[in-house]
Amino acid sequence: MKIARLPLILTGCLLFSLAQPVRAAVPDSVSLFAYADGDKGLYLAWSTDDLHWTAMNHRFLSCDYGPWGSEKRMNHPFLLRGHDGRWHCLWSLNDRDPLLAHAASPDLINWKRQSYPGVMQASSEAIGHAVGLPQTGAFSNCLMPVCRYLDDEQAYELVWFSTAGADTAYFKCRTADFKTYGETVSCRRSDWEGAICRIEGLGQGTVHRIPTETLQRLTDYIHGEAYRNALHNERCADDPVRFAHLQPLQGELRMDFRQEKAISDHLMGIFFEDISHAADGGLYAELVQNRSFEYQVADTKGRNKNWNARYAWQGNFSIGSEQPLAPTNPHYAVLDAAGASLTNSGYDGMVLTAGDRYDCSFFARLEQGGRARMEVRLTDENGHALASGRFIVKGSSWKKYACTLTPSSAAEKGQLSLTCLSLEDGAASVSADMISLFPQKTFKNRPNGMRPDLAQVIADLHPRFVRFPGGCVAHGDGLDNMYRWKNTIGPLERRQAQRNIWNYHQSYGLGYYEYFCFCEDIGAEPLPVLPAGVPCQNSAHGGQQGGIPMSEMDDYVQEVLDLIEWANGDARTPWGSLRAAAGHPKPFHLKYIGIGNEDLITDVFEERFTMIFNAVKAKYPDIKVVGTVGPFYRGSDYEEGWDLAGRLGVDIVDEHYYNSPGWFIYNQNFYDAYDRDAKTKVYLGEYASHVPGKANNIESALTEALYLTAVERNGDVVEMCSYAPLLAKEGHTNWNPDLIYFNNTEVKPTVGYYVQQLFGVHSGDRYLTSQLNVHLSDAKARARLGASVVRDSRSSDLIVKLVNLLPVAATLTLQADGLAAYGPTAQKITLSGQPDDRTARPTESDIEIGNGSVLELPPYSFTVIRLHEK
Ligand code: AHR
Repeated sequence: MKIARLPLILTGCLLFSLAQPVRAAVPDSVSLFAYADGDKGLYLAWSTDDLHWTAMNHRFLSCDYGPWGSEKRMNHPFLLRGHDGRWHCLWSLNDRDPLLAHAASPDLINWKRQSYPGVMQASSEAIGHAVGLPQTGAFSNCLMPVCRYLDDEQAYELVWFSTAGADTAYFKCRTADFKTYGETVSCRRSDWEGAICRIEGLGQGTVHRIPTETLQRLTDYIHGEAYRNALHNERCADDPVRFAHLQPLQGELRMDFRQEKAISDHLMGIFFEDISHAADGGLYAELVQNRSFEYQVADTKGRNKNWNARYAWQGNFSIGSEQPLAPTNPHYAVLDAAGASLTNSGYDGMVLTAGDRYDCSFFARLEQGGRARMEVRLTDENGHALASGRFIVKGSSWKKYACTLTPSSAAEKGQLSLTCLSLEDGAASVSADMISLFPQKTFKNRPNGMRPDLAQVIADLHPRFVRFPGGCVAHGDGLDNMYRWKNTIGPLERRQAQRNIWNYHQSYGLGYYEYFCFCEDIGAEPLPVLPAGVPCQNSAHGGQQGGIPMSEMDDYVQEVLDLIEWANGDARTPWGSLRAAAGHPKPFHLKYIGIGNEDLITDVFEERFTMIFNAVKAKYPDIKVVGTVGPFYRGSDYEEGWDLAGRLGVDIVDEHYYNSPGWFIYNQNFYDAYDRDAKTKVYLGEYASHVPGKANNIESALTEALYLTAVERNGDVVEMCSYAPLLAKEGHTNWNPDLIYFNNTEVKPTVGYYVQQLFGVHSGDRYLTSQLNVHLSDAKARARLGASVVRDSRSSDLIVKLVNLLPVAATLTLQADGLAAYGPTAQKITLSGQPDDRTARPTESDIEIGNGSVLELPPYSFTVIRLHEK
């Protein structure tokens, strides 16, 4: 197919603001104009006469490259109908990188994975010579690509230009399949010219001839999208108008105890990520902030110049780095005079309880020998001493000093200081590192453990699994920021802390050992998620395309295998022995391992994921591998991720979607169509209903409850699910909404928390068929009622969950033949409130229940009925 070389400017355009339905009078084919709206993506317009154009006002493709905000730009998309019948889109990413971008689609609606061929990555010196310019190596960017198919060569020729200062040079290369690319050579401007045209009012792009049927499909799709968007944007605030006609409802819940199916008994779990200070300054009970003096301005991407080795400390000390405590912990504090001290203010202050015991410790050494008398002291916000301890530091090698401090009175903003009282016998300075204050009261009294109130509120969810350490933290901001589990185990002073992708610092005090112990303490399966050899798709450095070099992948695969040995291996195995040395000789019985987190499914990803998956399955066939299918409920990553999972036989894939309340209301059938026979099951690893303003209120919580009744119904394909994110510290939130907010003294579960808790506590492993029959002709109202009936084999209890997301009450008669086997007393828990209520809490009562009993569901409510077997 030849590219139509159209006149550069088509004049006389008339643009309609909305996509217009195609009229019967249009000819068999129409013209299609593909263009960009700024750098937002690929847009289309159509015309029957090449004079009057109708813009479809829909983005058909957008760019996935690089971080949100500054990148993900689609510059100058060039569309081509390929020899293979597919549409190919090429575009430039930015004016810097030596890459082009490509994606293909069979129908302009569904786009396959994007690739970013490094066509200018070849020796830029060679390119410079070829161009005959003095600035050899200067050309690297790839701008405004065009493409044509060369029949004789059976290959596509890509042509683009590159700029270096004021110079411009043209380049081209060939590809037969948009997977492998031939050598880049210089070419003439005339090779590039003529393939792009401009349409007034729309912009630059390419014109194609398409059958009218194709246009009809495109417009139908856009109308479908508009219809779906309208549904998804429905809000409770409009209910008084939308449901003005509704009277209180009557109906029945008919349950059939003879029809049941097995569902996952690991359905409800938690997603834990150190986002919004969930770990450091949160669940991890350490009170000293920046205890190892490793904070760096780069942790905040340079935004906070005070975020350095001195952060959270005050006093007359300097930072040293000669002969550090460990190569992985290179900085420490130096006090070089008697009276010099340093004071830590903790994470927004330290909460100290009178009479409680706190383990205080630090490492110290005297560079020149001699001895130093040191004092640690706890003070309140007014500087009053609450407790103190003294030490004699001796010797030029690092040694740990520790004592127990018991505050005489309480403080909400306590501080810890370390003072050099004297330098003696030739000592000129004393160095200190890993200055720690740890409450002895931790969750389950674990040393180096968790803040008890936060840990308890998590435990109260009754999670059957814990996914950690993220989220984006797991795959990190660029290759050198991936979460490498081996850096997070062993002695605290040797753990290699690093930047948190959420722009602060990860101490790794809460590392893999602590995560596994926490799971054990709360009776949850650990689900560690390791990078799939690629960093976060939104990485600022190198982006998704920067996978671990293939030459290092064998080592990386081994790192993944080592984790399984560390968790499950006998204490005599090399890695199992480290677990035993840490205090856990018995295996952790790891069953699941996640590989990747909502990564873009690219060739780079696929190659690495496949290597890891095959290696894990070869060595540990019983370990269930959780793969990933991108950040959305549809689109190329979702499609390609599922396709890859099917080809490899991945056990479970991790779906993510943060959507509007309306999406959850109108997608309760999302999993009904999933293949029951497929090997691959679903882990809905991140989801939340996001109302505008991101509040966690009755509206968001009840839409989640409604959706969860459908997830329970699909508990034969959905093996696990977890709301995200879990924790957020007030004043430090990177993300809203979250399930549990907290500060140093309070834990504030949200309304959504109680929905998760009710599903977690009242879970079952058998799903019983039920029908909610309500006299209601309004489909929108009907979509706002949900029911799920499960039985828990362990307790033999019957659990009925009912959601009423309507402004009117619903009175239901319970009908079931076998109901006489339960009760007659039942536990009834109701969560209800106005849609914007953020403080609603469940209320509990005992009720009498039998066949024919009547139950009232209040407006905007979630009700759980639990019946014991007689
Ligand atoms: O839950 C917050 C973030 O959302 C996670 O880190 C990431 O996986 C997702 O994009």
